[in-house]
Amino acid sequence: MRAGFHGLGLRRIGTGAATLPQAFPPNFVWGVATSAYQIEGAAAEDGRGPSIWDRFCQQPGAITDGDDGRVACDHYHRWAQDLDLMADLGVAAYRFSVSWSRVQPAGAGAWNAAGMDFYERLVDGLLARGLKAAMTLNHWDLPQALQDRGGWVERDTVYRFVDYAQGMAARLGDRVDWLTTHNEPWVMATLGHETGHFAPGQRSRAAAMQVAHHLLLSHGLALQALRAQGCRSALGIVLNLSPVEPATDSAADAAQVRLDDGRLVRWYMDPLFSGCYPQDVLDWLGADAPRVAAGDMVSMCQPLDFLGINYYSRSVASADGSWNVAQGGLPLSAMGWEIYPQGLTTLLLRLARDYAVPPMVVTENGGAFPDQLQGGRVHDVDRTQYIASHIAAVGEALRLGAPMAGYMVWSLLDNFEWTSGYAKRFGIVHVDYATQQRMLKDSALWYRAFLQAQRSAHAAAAGAA
Ligand code: FCB
Repeated sequence: MRAGFHGLGLRRIGTGAATLPQAFPPNFVWGVATSAYQIEGAAAEDGRGPSIWDRFCQQPGAITDGDDGRVACDHYHRWAQDLDLMADLGVAAYRFSVSWSRVQPAGAGAWNAAGMDFYERLVDGLLARGLKAAMTLNHWDLPQALQDRGGWVERDTVYRFVDYAQGMAARLGDRVDWLTTHNEPWVMATLGHETGHFAPGQRSRAAAMQVAHHLLLSHGLALQALRAQGCRSALGIVLNLSPVEPATDSAADAAQVRLDDGRLVRWYMDPLFSGCYPQDVLDWLGADAPRVAAGDMVSMCQPLDFLGINYYSRSVASADGSWNVAQGGLPLSAMGWEIYPQGLTTLLLRLARDYAVPPMVVTENGGAFPDQLQGGRVHDVDRTQYIASHIAAVGEALRLGAPMAGYMVWSLLDNFEWTSGYAKRFGIVHVDYATQQRMLKDSALWYRAFLQAQRSAHAAAAGAA
């Protein structure tokens, strides 16, 4: 397998490729990921209600070039072709999200049959192609109608989410392999409600912490409800986590590492696995700590069938806030994020050491790079290296004992990258937004060959046994 891997043109990858294991386990699930608002388009079709991202995009200056998700990749109409692409790549699973306001336009009450039918066609289309469905219920696009009633700051939204989860599971729980409640609660809480960079654009730390609490609570209550109704999907949540490293070796930076890790990692992992918030962060928050009702902490601490982790880079803590990526000396992606594959190994091993984790899946990993279209091809060596070196980092974590069950590339398609609009491309498949034509970049060709090599290695091992 190692020879085969080098045969795929990976000699240039350097450090990462050399540490790739001979082969990942045969049941390791390889996939690609997207989310509803970023690819579907058809924002006002077939009864879909507006979400907070539709509203946020209308604010002047909120999104690069004034872009929005009204058309995006037109996946709502091109889903069958996109599923064919995945089958052609040879992935085993597709991680997508449901637009809540497409299936339940007001976020409560009436269901939209056309919206439900769309996801049913999608899931059945996956199964027909032999692919597993990994469905996320909340990838940030809360129905605007619920935001108008206070959104995630309001406790009522928790109960609306549980209803929504139950409705989706009742319809699709028999065919969805992996069901995720929320994608990246830290982002919704912090970027959506503390810094205001993302929808709904609020700026209050107290609000952000209440949102984080309600997201975790709604996750736990949804898991209880889904299990009670006999949902057959594996149930989990997806967190964006990073190892936090100090900018300098000063004592102040060490203290900052502890706090930043508390806010990013322990604030979410501790309640999920131990039913409590980290005391040091609670102390630091003071009056901004969330209101917690009796029983909440027990409710949010439900057994997880899997834990999804989205990883892009490390986090660097500096007490005086002076640190800048230029100081790190690491290569950067087009997002200005440090490329740091070994941080993924560190993170996965730390989670496995500090928590009783279930099987872990890297549910997002990938990079935006300045792609050049040349003669109808995109030779994205940088993205290919990024993905290969991070796969190697997962392999290393697996070798050292972390319970790794899968890896998914972000993203299948170039798509609407939130506040960066269409200016940043994460896809392994290029999208020409004028024609909606899809074209496999070199990274997609590499991923396809890598997956084929995995299958060959397993077939050879089975034959030799
Ligand atoms: C993650 C998001 C995903 C995508 C990537 C680049 O935080 O979950 O939708 O935007 O970043």
